[in-house]
Amino acid sequence: METSTTNTRLVGKIKIETELEVFESVSDLPTAVQNLMDKAHQAREYAYAPYSFFKVGAAILMESGQIITGNNQENAAFPSGLCAERVAAFAAGSQFPNEKFKAMALTAGSSKHKTKTPIPPCGACRQSLAEYEVKQGAPIPIYFMGESGKVVKANSVKDLLPLIFDNSYL
Ligand code: THU
Repeated sequence: METSTTNTRLVGKIKIETELEVFESVSDLPTAVQNLMDKAHQAREYAYAPYSFFKVGAAILMESGQIITGNNQENAAFPSGLCAERVAAFAAGSQFPNEKFKAMALTAGSSKHKTKTPIPPCGACRQSLAEYEVKQGAPIPIYFMGESGKVVKANSVKDLLPLIFDNSYL
């Protein structure tokens, strides 16, 4: 199959640029974020990950100040499990349907080796989180890290998921 574009009419190019902030340690962030990350670490300890040995913890700061947490829940039928981010977001969305998510903190790591690099949320979780951002009409800052070390901050889900698919296309 010919895939060259030499003779086709290229009408434009889309350049995707995104910028994330990197912090040396969670202690360089505001106390409210440190507290949120602490809750994510605590939630991570209760993750049910007997297959991957990879535990993820998520914490969402709600508009009310309340923090909703989640962790990954695996299943012997692998696709039936769910990521920490969606466990937390669906719990928050189902219990507080009219409240905004003010921020989210994530921590992840394997019990087989020490994870010091920041672990970003998977693509499916980004799409799920995007729904809440669109719904609330305000960005959700997301902070993510490994078990320890640097923290990356995305100011919005859109910074992690350019060319977002949302309800405007439906
Ligand atoms: N996992 C999450 O909880 N969040 C992510 O964003 C990536 C992956 C979980 C799913 C599975 O239980 C384990 O990590 C390994 O993929």
